[in-house]
Amino acid sequence: MEKIQVIAIDGPSGAGKSSAAKKIAEALSWDYLDTGAMYRATALALTREGVGLEDEAALFGVLGSMRLEQLGTRIFLNDEDVSEAIRNREITQFVTPVSADGRVRQVLVEQQRHIGQRGGFVVDGRDIGTVVFPNAALKIYLTATVEARAQRRFLEQQAKGIAMTLEEVAADIQRRDHADSTRAVAPLRKADDAVELDSSGMTLDEVVVKIVEMWNQVQSTTP
Ligand code: DC
Repeated sequence: MEKIQVIAIDGPSGAGKSSAAKKIAEALSWDYLDTGAMYRATALALTREGVGLEDEAALFGVLGSMRLEQLGTRIFLNDEDVSEAIRNREITQFVTPVSADGRVRQVLVEQQRHIGQRGGFVVDGRDIGTVVFPNAALKIYLTATVEARAQRRFLEQQAKGIAMTLEEVAADIQRRDHADSTRAVAPLRKADDAVELDSSGMTLDEVVVKIVEMWNQVQSTTP
């Protein structure tokens, strides 16, 4: 299988995938594709249209008409910047069933492949190395303990002024881990050829340096 110039970063919520992916893209002068943001923007589009997953005709209507675009690190839904709107608690809860839906995944995976096919992309998600780009030149499975992930997310939420306790944040992370890894369609799992990296005791910069080093290693061993 011919490799594509993509670094796929999969792993559970809060392992630091998107922060690392953004910085790696910067370091390599590549683009960054945040596939989680695409599922979130789809959940937002459905919420706004008042469409649930049970109404198939309406669901396909929204999936067929919404336009998602990512410019830098901003995500646009029908030309509106929704980067903040997709991060609220309501969308964070609704995105779980939306991202578990095979019809939604089929549409978004096709868009992701279309966007990434030219290469020069760092892509983060749950199924990038297993489903979207099984031919990615480098696959990372980024993990961290529940405690480390909850602590980081808790500090982020505090900085944003969101009032949640550490226990609530940890419970939210565990709920999402369970949902993401037990769903029937494209569950979260490490690709056989992915390198597992535990970021628990590492700073963001250390994670970035490590992955860029791995990329340089891949480059130097590819004929
Ligand atoms: O990474 P995130 O929290 O922004 O992802 C939002 C949701 O979308 C999360 O519930 C996992 C899901 N997701 C997915 O199923 N597949 C992806 N490639 C990316 C995210």
